[in-house]
Amino acid sequence: MCGIVGYIGGGNVYDVLIKGLHRLEYRGYDSAGIALVNPSGTLNVYKAMGKVSNLENFCKDKNLDALAGIAHTRWATHGEPSDCNAHPHYSEDGNLALVHNGTIENYKLLKDALTQHGCRFHSETDTEVLVQLIEYIKVKNNCSLLDAVREALKQVVGAYAIAVVEKDHPNRIIAARKSSPLVIGIGDDEMFLASDATPFVEYTKECVYLKDEEVAIIERGEPLKLVTLENKEAKIDVTTLELSISQLEKGGYPHFMLKEIFEQTTTLKDCIRGRVVNGGKRIIISGVDDNKEKFLAAKRIVIVACGTSWHAALLGKYLIQDMCRIPVEVEYASEFRYSNPVLDDKDIVMAISQSGETADTLAAIKIAKRMGAFVYGISNVVGSSIPRETDSGTYIHVGPEIGVASTKAFTGQVMVLTMLAAAIAQLRGTMTQEQITEIGKAIQKVPSLVEKVLRLNEKIERLSLIYTYAHNFLYLGRGYSYPVALEGALKLKEISYIHAEGYPAAEMKHGPIALIDEEMPSVIIAPNDHLYEKIVNNVQQVKARSGSIIAIVTEGDTTIRNIADHVLEVPEVPEALSPIVTSIPLQLLSYYIAINKGKNVDMPRNLAKSVTVE
Ligand code: AGP
Ligand code: GLU
Repeated sequence: MCGIVGYIGGGNVYDVLIKGLHRLEYRGYDSAGIALVNPSGTLNVYKAMGKVSNLENFCKDKNLDALAGIAHTRWATHGEPSDCNAHPHYSEDGNLALVHNGTIENYKLLKDALTQHGCRFHSETDTEVLVQLIEYIKVKNNCSLLDAVREALKQVVGAYAIAVVEKDHPNRIIAARKSSPLVIGIGDDEMFLASDATPFVEYTKECVYLKDEEVAIIERGEPLKLVTLENKEAKIDVTTLELSISQLEKGGYPHFMLKEIFEQTTTLKDCIRGRVVNGGKRIIISGVDDNKEKFLAAKRIVIVACGTSWHAALLGKYLIQDMCRIPVEVEYASEFRYSNPVLDDKDIVMAISQSGETADTLAAIKIAKRMGAFVYGISNVVGSSIPRETDSGTYIHVGPEIGVASTKAFTGQVMVLTMLAAAIAQLRGTMTQEQITEIGKAIQKVPSLVEKVLRLNEKIERLSLIYTYAHNFLYLGRGYSYPVALEGALKLKEISYIHAEGYPAAEMKHGPIALIDEEMPSVIIAPNDHLYEKIVNNVQQVKARSGSIIAIVTEGDTTIRNIADHVLEVPEVPEALSPIVTSIPLQLLSYYIAINKGKNVDMPRNLAKSVTVE
């Protein structure tokens, strides 16, 4: 997820672009850049690490004249954040500049082929491959930029929103999208291009949302033209925007948290993209094959994390022990770092962190490395401190998570841990090819099942009204649902300020069941898994003590439906994937209860998005 802005018109191109980049900074950035097509026939590209203001400072003494321009805030996926990896990327002949939002899965294949044809690359990004491919096709076929873009995109596997400018055609921008958003603002004698409408809504409310595999030709003095990759004219549907800038930043949702909950269909697709291949037969997670010997020899895995990431870590324990038959210990990083841990070079330490900046987790990593362990990181922010510190690792690719309460990052972490466990099992031979293919195919279905879970939204909003003024909650689960219970309780606590505790359901009889009465609601996560009969007993025990119950069940459940006060049905999935579908109703429940209580769900009191202090 990043930000793209383009502009052609009578206004100051540089000013419109820079202001537009500021509007898009909420979409995440680690670097920014701008390409200006100068009236004298030059193409000036300026780029800088960090905030858009760094780019502005860099541009202070530069030639900023332009007839057209494109700009970009980067959210790195391939290649560390750096000036060199920042967009726009040049073609070799310097005639083209391109910005890109998304990931090109087959970029290595394309890069190798282009290298054999003499292309030289200057960055580590997948994006540079695309602009070089477009130039290669344009020169080889002696064709127009539009035709070269169409042909190049037919060869691309992955997600893209791109904008391209050409030195020799200063009054034109070519743009295209597939899976990543791109919208065109239609003004009076001017046109805008952006990842969402926030950069141009103050200039025009008329816009056209590009559809997948459509290519836009934006030319000064000409009406907008859209074609398909096959060069067939595409219909232009103009929309009139009604949303404010703030609403647009949230995608029309009232809060970033709700937007990010609903993004999970898309973010899980992004997370899975390029990792489950050959129809599910093979699961590829970076850092596993490159460190075969470590994962084959591992006698123990220790996972360190904090908060929601610790709940994901606990699920990692269940997944890795189940699939790989390796003992796993899960530690709060804050405890691990002061517990005088016993580690050696036969141990693997995994560190999970959305922000990649959590101080306790970073400290735990440094201790583990000092003791000789191999440290593998799972983060969301490319180039953050934790991925830089670990020996290897992978990213969850869910885009910037703005809401303090983690939602899409949690399901992204759990999805990556599921794929990681399967990839290690594949390596160690602890799962048959049939089992790998089964979980691989099931993983590929998860995004569409999440879409189904999100349809519970209205029902949960109504249900939340009943429980808004509860003073305490219990969240109960067994097996894979126990970490989900912990995560559900944390979600409620941190945004509604209601006390909530997660417990292993069977643990209730060892004390906590004394808490149950009419004033103590319980949320019980009870999917149809190998512990179902046991959890039914736990539901009955709570009911027998007049406890009010919200149960998360597998669709079609008839037993718990007759015991619980409310049931929320989720689709049937293999047990290992149940946390992803059962955690999302709990995200929505906590969101609506907090809203009912008038809480600031995106920035809860006392909390920060990234805890970079002890
Ligand atoms: C979760 O909703 C909280 N925001 C918090 O517990 C968070 O998960 C924790 O601070 C760890 O953050 P990290 O994943 O960025 O390391
Ligand atoms: N994959 C590209 C890169 O890593 C684009 C990332 C983005 O969407 O900002 O540079």
